[in-house]
Amino acid sequence: MNTINVFINDFPIKVKSNISVLEGCNQNGFEISRFCFHEKLFVAGNCRMCLVEIKGQAKLSASCAVYFTEGMHILTNSSVVKKARESILEFLLVNHPLDCPICDQGGECDLQDQSFFYGSDKSRFFEYKRAVSNKNCGPLVKTIMNRCIQCTRCVRFANDVIGFSSLGTVGRGSQIEISFYIRKLFFSELSGNIIDICPVGALTSKPSAFSTRPWEMKSVRSVDVFDGFGSNIRIDSRNLEILRILPYKNDFINEEWVSDKIRFGFDTLKRQRLNKPYFKSSINFYQLAWTEILNVLSKKLDVLNKKNLPFYLIIGAFCDLKTAFAAKYLLKISANFSSIINFEGYGLTSLDFQHFFCFNNRFQILNDKNLEGCFLVSVDPRKEAPVLNLKLRKQFIKRDFLVANLGSRLNLTFPIFQLTINSFKFLNVIAGKHLFCKFLRKIEKSIAIIGSAFLNVTDENNNRFFLAKFLINSKIINSKFFGLNILSSRATDVAIYNLGLKTKILRKSSKPKFLFVLGDTVFQKDCINTFVCFQGIQGNELLIMSNVVLPSCAFTEKNSLFINIEGRFQNSQKAVSMPKNSKLDFDIILSILNLFDLNLMKKFKKNFLLSQNKIPFYKNNQNPFFSLFSFPVYMTQIKLVNKTFISIFNQNYYQNNLLLKNSITMAKSSKMLLTKSPFV
Ligand code: SF4
Ligand code: FES
Repeated sequence: MNTINVFINDFPIKVKSNISVLEGCNQNGFEISRFCFHEKLFVAGNCRMCLVEIKGQAKLSASCAVYFTEGMHILTNSSVVKKARESILEFLLVNHPLDCPICDQGGECDLQDQSFFYGSDKSRFFEYKRAVSNKNCGPLVKTIMNRCIQCTRCVRFANDVIGFSSLGTVGRGSQIEISFYIRKLFFSELSGNIIDICPVGALTSKPSAFSTRPWEMKSVRSVDVFDGFGSNIRIDSRNLEILRILPYKNDFINEEWVSDKIRFGFDTLKRQRLNKPYFKSSINFYQLAWTEILNVLSKKLDVLNKKNLPFYLIIGAFCDLKTAFAAKYLLKISANFSSIINFEGYGLTSLDFQHFFCFNNRFQILNDKNLEGCFLVSVDPRKEAPVLNLKLRKQFIKRDFLVANLGSRLNLTFPIFQLTINSFKFLNVIAGKHLFCKFLRKIEKSIAIIGSAFLNVTDENNNRFFLAKFLINSKIINSKFFGLNILSSRATDVAIYNLGLKTKILRKSSKPKFLFVLGDTVFQKDCINTFVCFQGIQGNELLIMSNVVLPSCAFTEKNSLFINIEGRFQNSQKAVSMPKNSKLDFDIILSILNLFDLNLMKKFKKNFLLSQNKIPFYKNNQNPFFSLFSFPVYMTQIKLVNKTFISIFNQNYYQNNLLLKNSITMAKSSKMLLTKSPFV
């Protein structure tokens, strides 16, 4: 990148040529105050707090809107600049209420910080302050519009980032205010980020209003487990309670956004917690000690084992890598422990190649200037990975980037080509004859994103064959580029596939006699004669059907390791302690192994220590082309493709897993969505 020579406060400095004066100064340690500027938003230049003096220019300039030129001489702290900032702040404080002691932003408010440096201790204004009515933004975002300084960050975030265009400024001059142009529900999967964007306390979190002060909390870094994207988060807690979850900046993954599910849905972790092992006899649950419950479990398994009946293991959506590794050994306690299954509608058995279950191009591909097209198949990125959808939208806004969808109709907050679902169109797409495929063939680089619903097939190999044909005919994979990406919606999937744990769909006809459910997951209600052992954290519909209940801990209560859909290993730190009498998932499985086979236990411990030194377990050094064609093709008739191929993940966004169904905030949001009214 080109650099140029400039002077900042008389220091000769080399800066990049394509950045604003404000960014250049900040990068070189000359902090410039700002309100309306934000790295991820378009520049507005309306607060004037970032004024600097440029030698040779008669007036002060807004540094966020001026770019460096060779030899430029900038003064960031001259007396003229200081005087200008003091005046601007005085104007802002004319109408800003002095309610810092009861404001939730107190302690982390930009206006408070700037007042400390440039504010005055007395006012020259003796009129009434103006009053602005609060707006109803639903159950997640609280507004106190008297505090608004009209920086328009929220307006730019809503319009440019999440695609909600009804928020804007109304009125002029001293009557200007932020409002909705039309009465419309403020809905976005990422709406909570508007709270972080606001530099003052005008927009704050409704669920955690008046609950804490920033200096009372301790923070740890963790990972969002409510989807497979692996957004980095910061968990703020006080004593034993989690008080808020915020995004942790990571430019490679979530930038500085995080979905509403993890930001607000964590209240579920306080509700209906299991704190003792339980055993169900007829319809009643009885509390037992850990040793007693493990004996009950071992006896039951012995009986079933003698009868040679199949056992099944279900791994829930929030299982970490360490627990999944232990679960692999759980399968070895009996030859009857047949396989891992799930009820979430898909299974995967061909795990030889990572390319068939990972987002192979990594999220950075969406910053590639040569990428011109994207084909979505059986996926709704807006619901399954909202931050990924945001990245696609950003590409669409920045330059010519076309997205087409093969599957149910989608609303992705930006225009896409919706391909009609019928077998004729589908055949055309496979053969590369569709108009969009022809377009893809002409461009240099394009990718395909395939959703979990695609895996919901009767014949996995057969569908992979169709996929391969489609990708080659559309030139999404070619000799130079491999553009296949799989988007899994569960945080645990890539980890269990990496460990070689095959998953199958449990057919209704299977009638399992024993199910070990590891963590919260979707569960079929018709397993009436099945003995269910549930290892989880809270009372829910799954618990009612269980015979043995083993209380474990949530992802916020342990140090763990997750793998996101890119195959990236990420640590999650413990934020709070687990309830008394609960145990770590890993320790519970170890106790079960101990009960059955001491040799197996020793082998597990040895292998676990070995693998810890070797993480990542899986080495991605295989030929991606080989992975796609290394399967037997049994059928090539289009009519044999399961119709569910084109379905998508189509559930209530706010409550699409068992944990979130217990969240009060998510229940309110879900009601808002269903009734289309913010008054909940
Ligand atoms: S509500 Fe906050 S972000 Fe929006 S204009 Fe006002 S101060 Fe800026
Ligand atoms: S930050 Fe530059 S004008 Fe507001």
